[in-house]
Amino acid sequence: MGSGIAEVAAASGHEVVLRSRSADGADAMVAALTKSLAKQVEKGKRTDAEAAEISGRVRATTHLGELVDVDLVIESVVEDLAVKRDLFAELDSICKPETILATNTSTLPVVEMAMATGRPDLVCGIHFFNPAPAMSLVEVVRPITASDATVAAAVEFAARCGKEPVEVKDQAGFIVNALLFPYLNNAVRLYEQGVATKDGIDAAMKGGCGFPMGPFALLDLVGLDTSLAILDALYDEFRDPNYAPVPLLRRLVASGQLGRKTKKGFYDYDR
Ligand SMILES: NC(=O)c1ccc[n+]([C@@H]2O[C@H](COP(=O)([O-])OP(=O)(O)OC[C@H]3O[C@@H](n4cnc5c(N)ncnc54)[C@H](O)[C@@H]3O)[C@@H](O)[C@H]2O)c1
Repeated sequence: MGSGIAEVAAASGHEVVLRSRSADGADAMVAALTKSLAKQVEKGKRTDAEAAEISGRVRATTHLGELVDVDLVIESVVEDLAVKRDLFAELDSICKPETILATNTSTLPVVEMAMATGRPDLVCGIHFFNPAPAMSLVEVVRPITASDATVAAAVEFAARCGKEPVEVKDQAGFIVNALLFPYLNNAVRLYEQGVATKDGIDAAMKGGCGFPMGPFALLDLVGLDTSLAILDALYDEFRDPNYAPVPLLRRLVASGQLGRKTKKGFYDYDR
């Protein structure tokens, strides 16, 4: 998600500092961004010059300290509350006092990240969808600690990125994942029960509901580890059995089969 968000921000004219923990990670993010722009050039959606201009606005680094002067940080690390809280505390000590600190979390309580900082009024959620350059929705998440000005700035940023911002309260899953994940989880349950094959279920939901992809293709795109973390967070909050992750999902994650990012999940991927 990180490289997709960087691409969206740079394509709408923002100067972007893309921070990854390792040089390899930073290189991989820049490579993903370059590949995505090259595809758009190939399809005639952008010129070579535009793609070069967008790449030119993105500076990759491994040093968190380089975020000192930015106006907005969008955190998009692993879906793990302890990791995110630590990062927010560190960002709070590094960034100038007026920087807005936002999270791309899919489900975790934004208020907990806000309270890890000394500026809870300046923390909110800016939740992009996958792939960020293609999906128009951005959920702007308002924790009870956020100021109106912070939420308004997040909405304005999303709109400037050409997205459609929708404001939502800080409740697990926000709008889309609260509604989507019971469906994805129950698709895995149907498959586990032997009701139909993965391909059969995917074909049924595409052909019967007009969805662009079936639930197993979508789970592989989201990442099975991220999907499991989302379901765990939803179940923690609501104790609804529809959110209790189906055992097969947990077993696939334990085996390192995480979907497209590991080239193997419910399906196999060549590239
Ligand atoms: N995958 C999706 O469809 C999707 C959609 C919207 C939002 N999100 C959210 O975006 C965030 C990232 O998800 P993703 O799918 O890009 O995951 P990912 O697994 O592709 O990337 C996670 C990144 O976090 C880094 N990371 C792991 N531990 C870290 C740590 N301790 N400190 C700093 N960085 C660390 C990893 O190196 C990796 O680069 C999550 O909060 C997720 O909920 C994901």
